[in-house]
Amino acid sequence: GEKINSKIVQCTDPNTGFPCPPPSKLKIVDFTPERSVTRCRRPVHKLVPEFQAKYQEAVRKMKDLPESNPLSFTAQAAIHQAYCDGHYRYDPTKVDAPFDVHFSWIFPPWHRMYIYFYERTLGQLISDDTFALPYWNWDSPAGMVIPPLFATARVNNSGRSKINPLYDQYRNQSHLGKLVDLDVLNTPQGTPLIPFNANAKQQDQKYMAAVNKNLCTVYQQQVRVGGPDPRSFLGEKLCSEVKNDRNSQGTLESMAHTAMHVWVGRATPTPPATCSAGNGGFLGHDGTYHCENDMGYLGTAGRDPLFYSHHANVDRLWNIWSTNLDGGNGFKDKDWLNASFVFYDNYEDPQLVRIKVSDVLDTTRLGYTYEDAKSKKQPWMSPTL
Ligand code: C2O
Repeated sequence: GEKINSKIVQCTDPNTGFPCPPPSKLKIVDFTPERSVTRCRRPVHKLVPEFQAKYQEAVRKMKDLPESNPLSFTAQAAIHQAYCDGHYRYDPTKVDAPFDVHFSWIFPPWHRMYIYFYERTLGQLISDDTFALPYWNWDSPAGMVIPPLFATARVNNSGRSKINPLYDQYRNQSHLGKLVDLDVLNTPQGTPLIPFNANAKQQDQKYMAAVNKNLCTVYQQQVRVGGPDPRSFLGEKLCSEVKNDRNSQGTLESMAHTAMHVWVGRATPTPPATCSAGNGGFLGHDGTYHCENDMGYLGTAGRDPLFYSHHANVDRLWNIWSTNLDGGNGFKDKDWLNASFVFYDNYEDPQLVRIKVSDVLDTTRLGYTYEDAKSKKQPWMSPTL
């Protein structure tokens, strides 16, 4: 799918020569709001075994779909890559005019749309329209670790060991079981890692200080720096003539969100020489080949199943900002409200759905809510430093 304004066109990637996603012959239908709220998103770390198994089963089925199905896991990951590796351009004759769903006010709504269709597909695959995408609750002390549900290569299923569909081998193994650092981009290299401890006590001062630092980061993102101004929290207006970069990101994108991508992704500063196009490598925005790192690079991030639970939490923090922190609906600008994208829906009989930013400002119109949506008490709302 494409289209934020009529100037955007599909292309052939100039670097790899790969064609961009083919123009689809499918008819495009307009999004219709869901009639009722049937899905309640919950934190990954609180899922009971029954729901853990459901999540794994749904992702396993999505991974089992043929790659040619636009709702297969491979195709879903490719959609994210298409929107950040220069596959769409404002101007097809210019290499340097990529359209990107990051670095601007498009970031929050595009990712909300993207995981909404992902969630629907998972529910459809297990015939459960109450299936809600669990979120990685890294802003709460009990969720400040790469979720164990995603962390092992295999799972025990009534005595039989099976592949864990939520696992990804290209993660930073040394970060498993460690307390996350929501400000890792500003942490000096070599700072010791702290083992995660769900039952840490107030007396464990070093641990508590690190937890509180994470809470302060989220407070800054949501309240102090992000504030009620949509430009600081959601991102700056997208202008095709101006290069968007870190400076045009809102705090929802630039702070904990980016930190957790880097935290989960594998640290491979110098890709091995064997990593090139055709054997797992891909040419990134920066003109170099990346490999063996999914979450750490925008182009490959969607290949890690944790991406979607990570983004469910980003989405939740946007929702909290809108409904509990005076952020409200965000921008009034028509360029934002009317921006539309096209997504695939329904794996059994794929169709294309056109959805606008104004369609996604209230999650109940998308049929989902968050378990703690009404709560005025998030741990980061009153950090103690
Ligand atoms: Cu499209 Cu977390 O990035």
